[in-house]
Formats: sequence, C-alpha cells, structure tokens
Amino acid sequence: MSNIEQTLSIIKPDAVERNLTDEIKSVFIKNDLKIKNNKKIHITKDEAAEFYKVHQSKPFYDDLCTYLSSGPIVVMILEGENAILSNRKLMGATDPKKAEENTIRKKFGLSIDKNSVHGSDSKDNAKKEIAFFFKD
Ligand code: CMP
Repeated sequence: MSNIEQTLSIIKPDAVERNLTDEIKSVFIKNDLKIKNNKKIHITKDEAAEFYKVHQSKPFYDDLCTYLSSGPIVVMILEGENAILSNRKLMGATDPKKAEENTIRKKFGLSIDKNSVHGSDSKDNAKKEIAFFFKD
C-alpha cells in the first residue's frame, strides 16, 4: 500500500556556506523525494531554541541553537513514499564518523554539530516541524 508522507529537511549552515545546497537537493530528487516547498532563511537563536525545544535538557542544546542560527539555512518540505524514513536513510547517522557510505552526512558532514542536514524523525515531528517553518 502506498504511504506518501511529507517531512522537513534543513540544509544547515556548514553545507549552505560550502555551496552544497544544489548537490544535496539533487540527492533527494534522484531518490524520488519531491521538493514541495523551499526557502533560504537566517533564523535567530531564539527561533532555533524553539525549533530544537525537544533537546532542551541535553548538554549540547545551547551550542546547537547557536550553530543553527549562525548563518543561512535552507528549509524544505520533502514529499514521497515513506519520506520520513527515506530522508533519514539518505542522511545517515547523526555523527558523520558513524554514517554509512554514500550518505549525505558521510560525504559532507564535518562533525556531529556540523552534520550538514536535519530531517524529521517521526510523523508527529514532521508535522510540527513543517508547521514551524511553513505557517500558511
Ligand atoms: P539533528 O538531526 O539536527 O538534531 C539535533 C542535533 O544535535 C543533531 O542533528 C546534531 O547535529 C546535534 N548534536 C550535537 N551533539 C549531539 C549528541 N551528542 N547527540 C545527538 N545530537 C547531537
């Protein structure tokens, strides 16, 4: 049975800065994820703190929020068959050192913080994260 989903993808400051946006987008397109909506923005630290609220008790929370607000990012809605899991497989493990060969984080990630991309991890979070950036 078909299961068309939407998920939120973010190309993080380290990847935008290195002009990797088009190359990362082409990975999604080649793997049957359509880019339904897409914008380049620069968020404040407060907005990053709101976005990453689920991590507020983690020791890395403050650095994470500083980092996501440190430069332009590209936020996208990806749509396709099992889009949430499909995007997570294309990204690879959170830590680029542990990511599988040919994944986005393995190829482009610099560190666990500068890991080039973010993707929603569940249906619930995908809904919340899409609403956070695309309010219309
Ligand atoms: P992301 O998928 O955007 O979700 C939260 C981010 O926190 C994660 O990617 C990492 O970039 C960052 N992070 C920093 N340190 C850690 C850690 N020890 N475990 C998990 N995520 C971390």
